[in-house]
Amino acid sequence: MEKIQFFDTTLRDGEQTPGVSFSTKEKIAIALQLEKWGVDVIEAGFPASSNESFKAVQEIARVATKLSVTGLARLVKGDIDKAYEALKDAIHPQIHVFIATSPVHMEYKLKMTPDEVLASISEHISYAREKFEVVQFSPEDATRSEKGFLLQAVQAAVDAGASIINVPDTVGYSNPEEYGALFKYLINHVKSDREIIYSSHCHDDLGMATANALAAIKNGSRRVEGTINGLGERAGNTALEEVAVALKIRQDYYQLSSNITLEETKNTSDLISRFAGVAVPKNKAVVGGNAFAHESGIHQDGFLKNPNTYEIITPEMVGVSHSTLPLGKLSGRHAFNEKLKSLGFELEENDLKEAFIRFKALADKKNDISDTDIRALIAGQTSEQSDDYVFKSLDLTYHSNNQQTATIYLDGVAGNEITQSAKGRGSVEAIFSAIGQVFKQAVILKSYEIAAITSGIDSQAEVRVSVEDSETGEIVNAVGIDYDILKASALAYMNANAVIQKVRERQTNQ
Ligand code: KIV
Ligand code: ZN
Repeated sequence: MEKIQFFDTTLRDGEQTPGVSFSTKEKIAIALQLEKWGVDVIEAGFPASSNESFKAVQEIARVATKLSVTGLARLVKGDIDKAYEALKDAIHPQIHVFIATSPVHMEYKLKMTPDEVLASISEHISYAREKFEVVQFSPEDATRSEKGFLLQAVQAAVDAGASIINVPDTVGYSNPEEYGALFKYLINHVKSDREIIYSSHCHDDLGMATANALAAIKNGSRRVEGTINGLGERAGNTALEEVAVALKIRQDYYQLSSNITLEETKNTSDLISRFAGVAVPKNKAVVGGNAFAHESGIHQDGFLKNPNTYEIITPEMVGVSHSTLPLGKLSGRHAFNEKLKSLGFELEENDLKEAFIRFKALADKKNDISDTDIRALIAGQTSEQSDDYVFKSLDLTYHSNNQQTATIYLDGVAGNEITQSAKGRGSVEAIFSAIGQVFKQAVILKSYEIAAITSGIDSQAEVRVSVEDSETGEIVNAVGIDYDILKASALAYMNANAVIQKVRERQTNQ
């Protein structure tokens, strides 16, 4: 059976979600998880956009053992050179170059004539081919481009050496019939004596990103681009987990397969949701909390008689399990590590040591530790350590006169010990005020949400905050996970502030 290549752009287009900023450590953990999930290509970033992005692409290129790593570049020699530098250690490097081809983009954004755009395609793709065996070209805003001109642009790219043509529905404007027909048109009209792979890249502005990607596949596309949980600009991108499961469940219709290990889907979605600070909606297809819940009496009755009546995807297929960890506070490190491995985590010695300490601390408080708890424990650990600040402890004094005091103890960027106290009308306000005084930067708390990770009174808490940098208007999401809600709140707010500080430093250095 022919295969569809999965191209994940969670770290590039997904990071363009408002408020999302992954640290390098988080990016590496995501890349390794995506490798385990089975994606063929990962777009690790846009190397010319910042030093941070360059370094992340470089590090991912060095650690990926199976997948191809690519980086985005404009049709500009400097961008292509940066991508080459960042990707030169990858086992299978690729470059992804783009230029807009729609009238509105060419006239107002690029201020280039169509002929100048065609010349740039020929010149820069030939240049990119001198450095990369595999060049992917995207005519940005393809679906609002004039069809004849789009064909000319794609032909110029193929003639200059591109072997993958990605057709972006940049503003989520297309629909399945139109988008599928566009693939058919390009595949039938572009001339080449080499094999050209056509790829889809859809945005979800009209809620059709997954449907459009599947229509492209039905019409000859053999690479699908998207993100996990549909992260991305505005309404987001095609949710790759939806495409992967659709291809499996409707193999009778698509007659195609992929390298995706579906059982790793839930792990992948959970990890990315936590690092992004973006919760997965309960009713989200495939990975939402209600995806396998049956509420109405008629549905429950049918399901109990035969699950097939109302369930086309089994929870096990995508790695959702409700099994509890058969470990307690007396369990040893070996058993704990085996459990981690079965959940897909391979930790280095030091990280394992720390995870075990955290597990023991949790087992002291909580009797029934589920796989979900363990995933949260590991995600919390990785994200806490990803920032330059390390949370040490928190003291709170509660007064019934509504004047609470919080004292926070952190290790700072240079490993220096930081202690800061503050008062507030409530405990959270006191904690946030103390953290605010550590960072000394003007920020506005836009949202604060608490969720229980599992059911039951002894559940761990997951706190998500969204914080706006008053200077730049930049929004940062962050998550804190702990058995205690107040500590989880402190972690989330500290992480958000640390990211804002980093973004500001990056902007001043550029
Ligand atoms: O949506 C888009 O057009 C893109 C391109 C850079 C591929 O993300
Ligand atoms: Zn995009």
